[in-house]
Amino acid sequence: MIRVVIVGALGGDEGKGKCVDEMVNYAKSQNDGKRIVTIRYQGGANAGHTLYVQGKDGKLKRFITHSAPSGLASNVDCAVGPDVAFDPLQFYEELKEAKQIFDYKGKILISERTGVLLDYHKQLDAWRESNEKRKIGTTKSGIGPFYEDNARRTTRITFKDYVSDKFTHRLKDVLELKKTELEKIGIKSDEYHDKILKEHDDVRKQLAPFAQRLEYRMQEYVENGDHVIIEGSQGSLLDVNMGTIPDITSSHLLAPHAFPSLGLSRKDFKIICVEKVYPTRVGEGYLPTLQTDGFGAQTVKRGGEFGATTGRQRRVGYPDWLLAKRAALLNDADLFYITRTDVVSGQELKVCVEYDVDGKKIAEVPLDISTVKPVYLEKTYKFKLWDGHEDVSNVLDIHEKLEPLRKKIVEGGYDNLPKELKEYIEEHDKFIGCKTVGISLGPATGETVLRTELL
Ligand code: IMP
Repeated sequence: MIRVVIVGALGGDEGKGKCVDEMVNYAKSQNDGKRIVTIRYQGGANAGHTLYVQGKDGKLKRFITHSAPSGLASNVDCAVGPDVAFDPLQFYEELKEAKQIFDYKGKILISERTGVLLDYHKQLDAWRESNEKRKIGTTKSGIGPFYEDNARRTTRITFKDYVSDKFTHRLKDVLELKKTELEKIGIKSDEYHDKILKEHDDVRKQLAPFAQRLEYRMQEYVENGDHVIIEGSQGSLLDVNMGTIPDITSSHLLAPHAFPSLGLSRKDFKIICVEKVYPTRVGEGYLPTLQTDGFGAQTVKRGGEFGATTGRQRRVGYPDWLLAKRAALLNDADLFYITRTDVVSGQELKVCVEYDVDGKKIAEVPLDISTVKPVYLEKTYKFKLWDGHEDVSNVLDIHEKLEPLRKKIVEGGYDNLPKELKEYIEEHDKFIGCKTVGISLGPATGETVLRTELL
């Protein structure tokens, strides 16, 4: 039975959606008649899970979820927890698209407590990014203003209110409470109230049957022996408390946070940190091992390192095991899952294991990360998955050529991986103090060497 929480170890975009997909696939392969549920527990449509899945016509298709759990693409049950910044319009669009591509038959469950993110959250976010002096480089999805409203309490519109007749009054009250702030950005409440009501009229009706006391439904999955796959979004470096303040998002990203919000117990789950071989960041925020030329520029191209939500180019750095080790600590991780080994196949990798702060070497990540310089191991790493096909940048075009090569490696299993890759993994695991359960070799589901005995 699969019971996992999957979170990002670095600056987001590590490939959590792919890891979720592999876990769903593995759960399906058990053929045990048990249900499979994937759950989002924080963040909102600032996330972007890019998945490559087989469509109805059997062809590989790119499918991106922002608001919905990535399990949506695998035709399994999908749940949204109470800490999520729930964007109903976005969610509904994704649900519609999934139904077109995959004949979606899973169940949808949304906590009645989940807060609803509306247009004014997005407008406030965008206004601040354009007008305030200190920018965060947000995705403009309304995340900061939404969590402010949640914390203020009286300005939180729950999903239950949203789908009920109360919505019109709640919206009026909230617009009144936020009047001064909204007038500053040109929103006048009367017409605006009616506009929102109209925009949401149909979606509210469509989503109404999904409202649940989710903590009890989660218990039922657990008691029934079902597969429960909880997925994080963003990465540990962006956590509202433990990230690189102020260049962070506004939600609690770390894995242990999932348990109280979903009414689940840590002891029933394994926590998996997903780590892209090389860290990336979008928006503001310092990356200690940042490489703009050479390795960095090449990896941006080969890995298509552009944000799934905003299309912005991600900045790339050499592997930073110190950041990964801290993520293991903060997330109480049991296992790691390493992605994008194909992107760096054949490239020389330097590995950061300490930071230099004013000439002093430290093995900790300080609050002000911008003061550090990376200290690399003298040894460098290089592993090759295959000969030729160095360019993996055009994922869909190159897929057919690389598929058989990837398949062969997957069939060979962990023991038959190229010895240089195994050496990288083993030294990484020793440094971090966790074992690597999966090594992803490509974007499609199945293109992962999974050590299922560790699950
Ligand atoms: P926000 O979450 O949109 O408020 O953005 C705050 C910071 O988090 C910005 O630096 C964003 O680029 C970053 N961020 C938010 N979501 C993601 C994500 O899914 N991947 C990577 N970075 C993200």
